[in-house]
Amino acid sequence: MKKNKFYITTPIYYVNSKPHLGTLYSTLLADVAARWHKLKTEDVFFLTGTDEHGQKIQEKAEEVGMDPKAFCDSMIPGFEKVWKQYGIEYNKFIRTTDEYHEKAVVNWIKQLHKQGDIYKSTYTGLYCVPCENFIVASHDSEQNEEGKSVCPIHKRVLDEIAEESYFFRLSAYQDQLLEFYEKNPNFITPQERMQEVLSFVKSGLKDLSISRKSVSWGIPFPGDSEHTVYVWGDALNNYITAIGYGQSDKKSKESFEHWWPADVHVMAKDIVRFHAVYWPAFLMAAGVPLPKKLLVHGFILMGQDKMSKSRGGMVDPGQLAEWCGVEPVRYYLMRQMPISHDGQFTLKELEERISGDLANNLGNLLNRTLVLARNNKMNEIVAPEVFEPEAAALRKKCKEMVSFYSEEMDKYHYHIALAQMWKFISEVNAFFHAQEPWKLAKENKELFVEIISAVCHSLYTVGSLLWPVMPNKMEELLAALGHTFDIGSNYEAQARANEWKMTFTLQKMDSPLFTRPEIPELAQDKQEDKKTSKEKEVKKVETPDQITIHDFIKVKMIVGTIKACEPVKGSDKLYKLQVDLGKHGMRQIFSGIAKDFTPEQLIGKQGTVVANLAPRKMMGEESQGMMLFAKNEDGSLRLLTVGEAASDGSLVS
Ligand code: ME8
Ligand code: MG
Repeated sequence: MKKNKFYITTPIYYVNSKPHLGTLYSTLLADVAARWHKLKTEDVFFLTGTDEHGQKIQEKAEEVGMDPKAFCDSMIPGFEKVWKQYGIEYNKFIRTTDEYHEKAVVNWIKQLHKQGDIYKSTYTGLYCVPCENFIVASHDSEQNEEGKSVCPIHKRVLDEIAEESYFFRLSAYQDQLLEFYEKNPNFITPQERMQEVLSFVKSGLKDLSISRKSVSWGIPFPGDSEHTVYVWGDALNNYITAIGYGQSDKKSKESFEHWWPADVHVMAKDIVRFHAVYWPAFLMAAGVPLPKKLLVHGFILMGQDKMSKSRGGMVDPGQLAEWCGVEPVRYYLMRQMPISHDGQFTLKELEERISGDLANNLGNLLNRTLVLARNNKMNEIVAPEVFEPEAAALRKKCKEMVSFYSEEMDKYHYHIALAQMWKFISEVNAFFHAQEPWKLAKENKELFVEIISAVCHSLYTVGSLLWPVMPNKMEELLAALGHTFDIGSNYEAQARANEWKMTFTLQKMDSPLFTRPEIPELAQDKQEDKKTSKEKEVKKVETPDQITIHDFIKVKMIVGTIKACEPVKGSDKLYKLQVDLGKHGMRQIFSGIAKDFTPEQLIGKQGTVVANLAPRKMMGEESQGMMLFAKNEDGSLRLLTVGEAASDGSLVS
């Protein structure tokens, strides 16, 4: 029988920062989906990767004084490490700087150009660099207090640009797109998201700028070396180039035929328009079938804010894994966050879920079962011919759970599926208590074995179906029941059949399956809760952001005069400053301020330098300190000067 194929993708993440909980969340959703389909013995391809071109990465590389490609290379191990740590089983990791991808994008542009879908004109309007988005309509921006347009996501003043650009005839695809949405009402999950897309498209599509003249870090635009391909025109194509599109060898062609169209593209709501409007139009223009589904999830929030690289406020996945273990974190994220809405991340709920659901409800049940059987020297649990009514009732509940769970997993409603699973686990616990098997061990061995068998069948079903969420832990669970996990077994079909005819050879576990997490931050909070209100009041001023005087005096800030200032070749952001620190000598300092000042505005000015910062290599030279600037509300910079002239070399304290 031909296997079903399942092709799933994550967004390819910008490499301006390492993975955080938000990017981990999308990648986990995709991993759980991929594993769920593997569990159903389907043929699965899971793609992830990184988005490496464009203005945002160019600026970031300049900021740290690196060549953009070298900067991208330096960020890759960070992604690979977190994905490996979290058990992300991808089949391919694409980088948009991979040669095969760049070539395929160039050919795609050439084809569109040739057939008249691309033309040259001028783009005048707003641009959000963190989004890498041309802001086309006024409802896509907000006004700040000074009446300037800001990005609603990043709250940052938008760049006004006017530059020559190649345009993609997006407007020509409006009707085809609307027809496609109408024929495929389930194209976007959840459906509510479709409404936003529909109203955007119906409001009238403008042609889309597809090249940048002022951005050098990108795929060279074919036929015009002054332009690079707009980063989204480059990035979206990863979904097809990664599986062979645009390559002429037989293997790539077959691979593309086999895997495309994608079964699902996973992403958060921030990038729906790119995927629901631009991407289908690009594919229509190229004559390629459209993906089957977009799975759009909400944001993980901390307090009121979206967790984001550009805006800070990130939780480090590595730190969480250290506190809680990797798979409990996987469980928490899948269980706690409702896929269609924004979800709050809190350490407290993380701890409660792990302690309650995993350690108490599931882990203890397994442990008690194993210990009880062992203490009574009955480790070989053979299924009875017939189950008594109570066990039979549990078996019926198990069957119902499987069918509900499976349907919700198919729909990507992981939080609902898991909630139902834990309802069943509670029922197994209740059954265990009500049957009092510890009493039966002496009085009625046959019934004892039957009860343990019912619990083991339940645990086996739970363990095999939870494998996509917590693979290693569930393999351990099955091993404790005397079974080796085998991905070819079709556990989902087994669970549906619900035969309860298995023999379990119970094992001793070296350590409990789950333990309570140790989260130092929470331990501090608990200490805090115990204090009297008076003590708390005193303590209140010592928030974690504060530092002591001992911390502060470690920073040596010294007054100095800027003697020279020159632009740095190859960077439009950096200046090289020569600063006179009086008795502390001259310092060469690189500063990312070229967009805010002309050299003349700085030369001769007195400012403040962090003088004991470890020297850094920037653009091949040494930067020996940091010049301090204040960032204005609108993002512009002011030199931190001294009110009355002080002598160069004065210590700020
Ligand atoms: O947009 N909560 O890359 P990106 C949930 N390169 N998910 C979050 C999140 C949060 N707080 N923050 C980020 C790009 N994400 C483009 C994509 S695809 C062809 C190009 C996740 O690094 C979520 O999936 O900004 C979101 O859509 C994605 O990271 C944005 O990642
Ligand atoms: Mg982003």
